[in-house]
Amino acid sequence: MRTGIFITGTDTGVGKTIVAAGLVLALKQRGLNVGYMKPVESGCPVLDGEVVPQDVRFVREVTGLRDDIDLMCPYRLKAPAAPSIASRLEDMHIDVAYIVDQYFQLSLMHEIVVVEGVGGLMVPLNNNDLVTDLVLQMGLDMLVVSRPGLGTINHTLLTVNMAKMMGIPLSGVIINGFGREAIGLPERTNPDEIEHFGNIPVLGILPWLKDLDFNTCKPGSLLSEFMERVNIDPLLQNDDDSFL
Ligand SMILES: Nc1ncnc2c1ncn2[C@@H]1O[C@H](COP(=O)(O)OP(=O)(O)OP(=O)(O)O)[C@@H](O)[C@H]1O
Ligand SMILES: [Mg+2]
Repeated sequence: MRTGIFITGTDTGVGKTIVAAGLVLALKQRGLNVGYMKPVESGCPVLDGEVVPQDVRFVREVTGLRDDIDLMCPYRLKAPAAPSIASRLEDMHIDVAYIVDQYFQLSLMHEIVVVEGVGGLMVPLNNNDLVTDLVLQMGLDMLVVSRPGLGTINHTLLTVNMAKMMGIPLSGVIINGFGREAIGLPERTNPDEIEHFGNIPVLGILPWLKDLDFNTCKPGSLLSEFMERVNIDPLLQNDDDSFL
């Protein structure tokens, strides 16, 4: 069985955290001991003197995970900017080897760790490394979260093809937020185009959940919708089955 999966998106705000939380809940439902990691989070508010990563807060609240915050999110940055920029402003250096080390420690405590990326694949972490370097050094397969509507074929294929060029194995695509906008021709036809041109399976289409509230950490129907609409089996299979 796979021991970790790296979730990236075609952009920031596409739903990586919601998909990561859904995946953690669905894997827990299967009886697995699951962990979650967000190696770098920028744009964190300071609450009572603490820099609080909001993605980690949401996932902790809805899944009940209680690992040390330094393992779950080693780099917590205040500025709402790319990690390379935010860390420079805060006189911090993001060290990919340190993230990998924290990840291995977390892996010892769980059967599988769901790792949420930062923005998209080509986001700089420091002067030398992009998110692609992080995924490669973590040695993980990647899941891509995409938007449903017009423009997503281009963004998804750019992400998928960059991963293939870099030698990052891919597990599939999840389309998130279906129904937030009116469902038209692109929403209905995009998944087939992505599968055909990306040579990659769309593992599921997660609807826009009106009963989910990120700010108050209410998952609403996330678990039931995730279990009904996403095929998680390929995410558990061995790395040999990946679509490199
Ligand atoms: N399926 C969904 N149903 C309801 N709300 C959603 C859904 N997906 C995303 N959202 C909302 O959109 C917001 C952005 O999604 P999310 O935080 O998961 O994006 P992200 O890709 O993790 O962004 P970042 O790059 O900042 O980590 C969420 O805070 C949530 O409020
Ligand atoms: Mg997120």
